[in-house]
Amino acid sequence: MERKKMSIPDFWAKKKAGQKITMLTAYDWAMASFIDQAGLDMILVGDSLGMVVLGYDSTVPVTMEEMIHHCRAVRRGTRYAFLVGDMPFMSYNINREEAIRNAGRFMKEAGCDAVKLEGGLEVVETLRAIVAAGIPVVAHIGLTPQTVTMLGGFKVQGKDTASAQRLLDSALALEEAGTCAIVMECIPDKLAGLISRSLRVPTIGIGAGNECDGQVLVTNDLLGLFEKFLPKFVKQYVQLYPLIRDALGSYKTEVEAGTFPSPEYSFGMAAQDLKKLRVKKKGPSK
Ligand code: KIV
Repeated sequence: MERKKMSIPDFWAKKKAGQKITMLTAYDWAMASFIDQAGLDMILVGDSLGMVVLGYDSTVPVTMEEMIHHCRAVRRGTRYAFLVGDMPFMSYNINREEAIRNAGRFMKEAGCDAVKLEGGLEVVETLRAIVAAGIPVVAHIGLTPQTVTMLGGFKVQGKDTASAQRLLDSALALEEAGTCAIVMECIPDKLAGLISRSLRVPTIGIGAGNECDGQVLVTNDLLGLFEKFLPKFVKQYVQLYPLIRDALGSYKTEVEAGTFPSPEYSFGMAAQDLKKLRVKKKGPSK
C-alpha cells in the first residue's frame, strides 16, 4: 500500500482502532529524514532543541527565530510524518494577538502542520484563539519544562487528588477549546490512562505510562546522544555518545600518526606527468 502523509483524522482513527501513535523529536534535516523513513506518525521540533542541540541550560532562552530556522530544516526532511512546531516560552503568553501571529509563522514560514504549546486551564483561551485562526494546536500538560521553576523542578505531576483533578479538568477544557492532541509529560500511568479514556482526542505520553494513545521521546535521549542527564522514563535504544567520541578520537590519532589518509583514501597521478613539473623558484623580493 502506498504510504500517505499523516493528518489529524488519521490520529483520531488510530485512537478509535486502539492503534498507538508514534512521535519523536527532530531538529534538523538529517534526523527528520531518518525518522520519516522509519515510518513514525509525527515529528515534533521540540524546544528541547535549546538543551540537546543549542547547549542552553533550559528551554527558556529558545527564540522564535531559532525554532523557525530548525523547523524549516526538519520540514525539508519530512515527507509523510505530521510536523509539529513547539512554540517557545513567551511566544504565546503575552497576548492572544501575538500568540496567533507567532503560531502563524510556524505554518507560513516553516511549513508546520500544527503548533504545540504548554499549559493547562491557563492557556485554554489562547489555544482556542489560535485554533479559531485555522491553526491546529497540540496541547502539553503535566510537567511543562518552560515553567519548571514554578513547578518546583523536574518532578512527576498529578500525584495527589487535587493536582490530578486539575490535570483532568485541563485536558477536558483543552479538548473543548479545540486541541487536536494532548502531550502528557511525567504523570502517573493510571492517571494518564484515565485522562486518555475520558477524551476523544488522542493523548501522547512521555513519562506517562503505556495507557496513552501514543508515545513521544526526545530522539537525542533515545539514541544516547545527550549525556548531561537521563530522565527515568527514557529508554536508550542505543548509546551513540561513546561511539561518536571514540570515532573522533581514532581520527585524531590517525591524523597525528600520519596513517590517515592512506592510499585508499587518496588520488593517484601518473609518475611521468609528475616528473614533468618544474618548481619555479621566486627571486628574493626587493
Ligand atoms: O520540547 C520537547 O521536546 C517536548 C517533548 C518532550 C514533548 O516538548
